[in-house]
Amino acid sequence: MSSLTRRDLLRSGIAISATTLVPGSVSRAHALLARYASPSAAVASSAVAPREHLLFDFGWKFFFGHGSDPRRDLGFGMGQGDFAKSGEFWFATEKFDDSKWRSLDLPHDWAVELPFVRDPEQESHGFKPLGRRYPETSIGWYRRTFEVPKEDSGRRISILFDGAFRSALVFLNGYFIGRNDNGYAPFSFDVTDFLRYGEKNYLVVRMDASFGDGWFYEGAGIYRHVWLTKTDALHLGQWESVVRQAEQTRGTGGWLDLATVVQNQGDQTENCLVKWQISDATGKVVATADSKPQPIPASGMAQFKVTANIPNPQRWSPETPNLYTAIVTVESAGRIRDAERITFGMRDLKWDADKGFFLNGKSVKIKGTCNHQDHAGVGAALPDHLQAFRVAVLKDMGGNAIRTSHNMPTPELVEACDRMGMMMMCETRLMSSNPEGMAQLEAMVKRYRNSPSIIIWSMGNEEWTMMPQPQGPRVIDDMIARTHQLDPTRMCTAAVNDDFKTHFPEQLDVMGFNYNLKVHDDYHKAHPKQPSVGTETASTVSTRGIYETDKLRNWVSAYDLNHTDWSELAEEWWKFYATREWLSGGFAWTGFDYRGEPTPYGWPSINSQFGIVDMCGFPKDNFYYYKAWWGSEPLLHLFPHWNWEQRNGEPISVWVHSNLDSVELFLNGKSQGSKKVEPYTHLEWKVAYEPGVIEARGTKNGKVVLTTKRETTGEPTSIKLTADRTEINANGEEAAVIRVEALDKDGRAVPTADNLIHFKVSGEGKLIGVGNGDPNCQESDKEPKRSLFNGLAQLIVQASKTPGTITVEAFTEDWPPPKLPTSQLTITTKKAELRPAVS
Ligand code: GAL
Repeated sequence: MSSLTRRDLLRSGIAISATTLVPGSVSRAHALLARYASPSAAVASSAVAPREHLLFDFGWKFFFGHGSDPRRDLGFGMGQGDFAKSGEFWFATEKFDDSKWRSLDLPHDWAVELPFVRDPEQESHGFKPLGRRYPETSIGWYRRTFEVPKEDSGRRISILFDGAFRSALVFLNGYFIGRNDNGYAPFSFDVTDFLRYGEKNYLVVRMDASFGDGWFYEGAGIYRHVWLTKTDALHLGQWESVVRQAEQTRGTGGWLDLATVVQNQGDQTENCLVKWQISDATGKVVATADSKPQPIPASGMAQFKVTANIPNPQRWSPETPNLYTAIVTVESAGRIRDAERITFGMRDLKWDADKGFFLNGKSVKIKGTCNHQDHAGVGAALPDHLQAFRVAVLKDMGGNAIRTSHNMPTPELVEACDRMGMMMMCETRLMSSNPEGMAQLEAMVKRYRNSPSIIIWSMGNEEWTMMPQPQGPRVIDDMIARTHQLDPTRMCTAAVNDDFKTHFPEQLDVMGFNYNLKVHDDYHKAHPKQPSVGTETASTVSTRGIYETDKLRNWVSAYDLNHTDWSELAEEWWKFYATREWLSGGFAWTGFDYRGEPTPYGWPSINSQFGIVDMCGFPKDNFYYYKAWWGSEPLLHLFPHWNWEQRNGEPISVWVHSNLDSVELFLNGKSQGSKKVEPYTHLEWKVAYEPGVIEARGTKNGKVVLTTKRETTGEPTSIKLTADRTEINANGEEAAVIRVEALDKDGRAVPTADNLIHFKVSGEGKLIGVGNGDPNCQESDKEPKRSLFNGLAQLIVQASKTPGTITVEAFTEDWPPPKLPTSQLTITTKKAELRPAVS
C-alpha cells in the first residue's frame, strides 16, 4: 500500500472535495504539463552549426495511386522497365505537374481519413480499407519540390525519415534513391550525388500500405517527421555519439565514457579531433573533454574515446528528470567541421532476481502501461505536443513507465519521457536475426541509447511459432548479443506468453511475463537467479461511463469486472505484483485504448476496450484504481454517475476507489454505512436508487480528509470547452487539446449527454481531429462535428505560423434537439522561433 504521510494530506488540503482534484484528464494533464519546462522545440531538435538539420514537413503534395493498376499509379510498373535505366522516373522531375494533387503537411496518416469497412479481415487493423484487396486506398504518393543552394555543393546531404508506413520507395530528380520496408524504424538516404545545386529538386515518395507489420492499427503514410540534414564531408557518424556512465562510478560519481565515430567522406586525409562540452539543465558547462588528434584517411572513419567527470551529478528519475546536454564537435585544421547535441541523464539501473528493480540504488516498482501509438482524431500522425499530453495523462495516474508495444517509438515520445520522467521499455517490431530484423534493432538501440528514460530493451512479443523451435534461442541469442555490444548498460527482455517452459525464457536477461499469473511463482522457483518483469498484464475491458454490460450495443461495464479469457482484472494483477518483492512490477495492457483489436466485441466496434483511458485520454474508472495504489496523493473516487431516471428504487452498485483508511457513503444525506479500505481493492455498496446526491467521505487517522459526490443532473443546456493550453506557439506545429462537455442549467456536467456538437475553427489555426472515446463510434475523425459520448468529446487544433488567435466555436444544429447555444473558446498563438525547415 502506498503510505500517505501527513504532508501528503496537507498538500492536498484537509477535507477538500475530491471532485476538485480530479475534474478530468485534460485539465489534470494541463496542470501536469505546466510543471515541465517544455523545450523550445526550435532549440531541442535544431542542429549545432555548421550542421543543418531542417524539418522537411511542410508543403507536400499527396495523391492516391493504385496497388494493381499501373495506369492509375503514375504508370509505375506499366512495362516492367521502370528500374532499367537510371534517372528516368519522370514523376520526380520538372516534367510532372502535381498542381491537382492535394496539399498537406506532415506528419500525415491517410488511414485515419478513410471510411470504415465491414470486412472481418480488417478487424485487427480497425476496419480500414487497406491491404492488397483495397488497391485504390493503399498506395499514397507524396511529392515535394525544394531548392538547394549552390553553396551546398561539396557538403553531404541526406534525407531522414523518422518512420513511415510502409514500403517506402524514394525518388529524387528522376533517380531511384532507395526503399524501406518496415513501418517503424527510421531510414535515411545520402542524396548528395543526386541533388541539383542552385536549382529546383523534385522528391517523390511512394508509400504502400498493402502489407502490415502488426495486428493493430498502424496508420498509413509518412506519419512521422522528415528531415534534410547537411553536413561537412568530415562528419560525425549517424547515432554514433554515446555518453555512458563509467563503470567505476555507478552510484554517486560522475565519470563518463564518451565515444563517437567520425567519417571522412572527403578526398584527403584529415587530422581530426573531437571535443565534448557538457552542460547541466541550466545551461552551465559542467565538464569538457578533448580527444587526441587522429588522422582519418579519405573515405575512412575513426573512433574517438575520452572520459569526463561531472561534479555532483544530478540523477535522473521519474520524480527528478534531470537532463544533461553534450555538444560534440569535430575539428580539423583548427576549423569546426561538424557538431551535434546529445541529451542524456545520469542514473543507475539494477534488476535483482529477489528484490526487483532498482533505480539509483532505490527499489522502484514498475507501474507501467503498454501503449500503441495512435490517438483520437489524428491516428498515427501525432503532433509532438500530443506525445507530452499522453505521457502527462499516464503520469497523472501514477504511472512511471511505458512499454512501446510492439515497435520502436517516435523520437518525440522518447524525448517526452526523458524530459517528463517516465521510464520506458523500448521494443523492436521484428523479432528476427535476419538482416531486416537486425537493422531495425540496431537503429533502435543506436538512436535511443543515450536516453535515460529507457531502462530495458525488448526483443519482441509473443513469437508463438518461433520461440519453441530450435531457431528461437539462436535468433534471440544473436539479437541480445548485438544489443549488448551496442549498449552494455541495459538488460534485454522479451514478452513471453504461452508455455514458459518452452519459450526460451532462460535466454533473457530479465524474464518478461505476459499474463498467466498462475505460473509465475513456479517459474520463479525454477529460475531463482533470473530477474523478472510483467511485460504485459491486465487486458481488462471496459467502456468509459458505461455501468451495465450490453452485448447488443458492444458496451462493457466500467466496473473492474471484465477481462478476456487470457487476462485478468486490474485488481487481480496489481495485487499479485504488488505483493511479490521479486517481481519488478509490470505493464498493464493498455494505458490508452487504440484502434484495431476491437476486443471484446467485433463490428461495429472499431477500437479496443483494453485502455485505462479511452482513445482521447478521458479516464475510465479503473484509472482511479491505479491512481489510488500507484499515486502518491490521497484519493477518493466514487462511481457510477447518479442519473438513473429509469431505475428508481432499483439497487445500484456503488464503488469507491480510495487509498484512505475507510469511507462512508451517503445518499441524500443518509448514511449507507462505512467500510474499511483493504489494500489493492475497491469498496462496494448496493444502494436503492433515488435521485439526488450520492456522497463518499474518506477518513484517514480518524479524520474525514476527502469528500466527493455525484449529483443527478438535468438536461444539457450549454456546451463547455476547455483547452489544455490557451496559449501556444505560432509555429505551424503546436496543438491544443480541447475537452468538450455538456452542462445542465446549474452548470453541472451531464455524464450521459450524447448531443452531436458541431465545431467551427477560425483564425490562425485549423482543426486536425475529433474524437469522443466511444469504441463503437464510426463518425469521421476529421469532420468538424462529433457526438458526445457519455458527456465528453475532444477536438485537437493546430496553430498556423502566424501569431494571432484561434477561435473555436461549438454548437448544435436545430435537429436533433435540443438546440444548444454557441460556446466559444479563444486560444492565443504567440510569435515563436520556427524550427529550421526546408523552404
Ligand atoms: C497480447 C498481445 C497484445 C494484445 C493483447 C490483447 O497477447 O501481446 O498485442 O493483442 O494480447 O489482450
